[in-house]
Amino acid sequence: MFPIEKLEKSPTPLYYYDLKLLQDTLQAIKDAIPDDRFKVHYAIKACNNPQVIKVIADAGFGADCVSGGEILQALEAGIAPEKIVYAGVGKTDAEILLGLEKGIGCFNVESIEELEVINDLALKAGKVAPIAFRINPNIDAHTHEYITTGLAENKFGIPHHLEKEAVKKAKEMKGVRLKGLHFHIGSQITINEPFALLSHRVNSMQDDYAKQGITFETINVGGGLGIDYDDPDGNPIPDFKSYFSTFARDLNLRHGQELHFELGRSVVGQCGSLITRVLYVKKGAGKQFVILDAGFPDLIRPALYGAHHKIENLSAALRASEADGSKDTTAVYDIVGPICESTDCFGKDERLPITQRGDIIALRSAGAYGEAMASGYNTRPLPSSLLA
Ligand code: LLP
Repeated sequence: MFPIEKLEKSPTPLYYYDLKLLQDTLQAIKDAIPDDRFKVHYAIKACNNPQVIKVIADAGFGADCVSGGEILQALEAGIAPEKIVYAGVGKTDAEILLGLEKGIGCFNVESIEELEVINDLALKAGKVAPIAFRINPNIDAHTHEYITTGLAENKFGIPHHLEKEAVKKAKEMKGVRLKGLHFHIGSQITINEPFALLSHRVNSMQDDYAKQGITFETINVGGGLGIDYDDPDGNPIPDFKSYFSTFARDLNLRHGQELHFELGRSVVGQCGSLITRVLYVKKGAGKQFVILDAGFPDLIRPALYGAHHKIENLSAALRASEADGSKDTTAVYDIVGPICESTDCFGKDERLPITQRGDIIALRSAGAYGEAMASGYNTRPLPSSLLA
């Protein structure tokens, strides 16, 4: 699956995106969608590589954006403005004006304070902003504490006790049109139960609103579907069928209502790998270190969340396929980056094929929140990228 000869000639660190796997994943999503009321918006924050966004746009998906920059990227890739939804707890006036000017499909509003600003800006611009309220459903997504977002204690969404006031206000305002409810409970969710719970919560909320004569055009359940970091080859494509069927079974859509999704990681996670070269194999006191030319500025997930990305020595695999396989060909290493911090470590006590200076290593499942979160710490260049 890796174009190893091409990678060997490429500058590293480099994000390699497997085009075929990305296309197969997009097709799997389309095949799993039960009917055309289900609309998927790709969460650009997961991977904002313009070539990747273009492939996703060409496949007909909408976009979930969290900044003016992402709105512009989505438009640039050819995504129609009405297929763009825009979320974030801290939208600036300039970003709101941009969304209004471009005619985006929905502002996902996270507070009454923000509602008032959007209403004011829309009135001044002579526009009506389509909005959805982001509701905090207080559901435990059973994921890493840094990426759970639907609990009452999180900063996201309108708190339950203010929800009625927010809806009442929005209904009275002339600069906004309340079209939906928005939820997002967290990321890297690998069981369907939290999605079923969310569906039930949505049903009872909709029942309550219906009693008051309030209905919505859209329900947006956010993103969050996880990927298999341990076995990217065994599970290259997430189980979209069972994910969508949970909602199809448990969430009662009302007449004419659309169900929106904002999938990020599950779309791009498995198609991307961070390709890096071994600079040194260093003997320490009782340990051997493989020192890579990639560090946490290139892939921060291990340092930030304690995440583990499967580590593969592509050059050694090639050597092994050419050798007779008779001698012991593995050793145990700590796999580290060049940055002067102990968290700059991709794996401890990893058993890898005997590794040499110059070997090409792949850090797998890095398509989501990899390149997009890279920084120039230590005045290092940003990683380059290749989609092939
Ligand atoms: N919608 C909203 C409102 C979100 O906040 C997010 C992600 C998504 C959709 C997309 O979620 P996904 O389908 O990718 O799970 N940097 C972290 C992940 C942060 C996720 C933030 N929100 C990581 O590397 O694990």
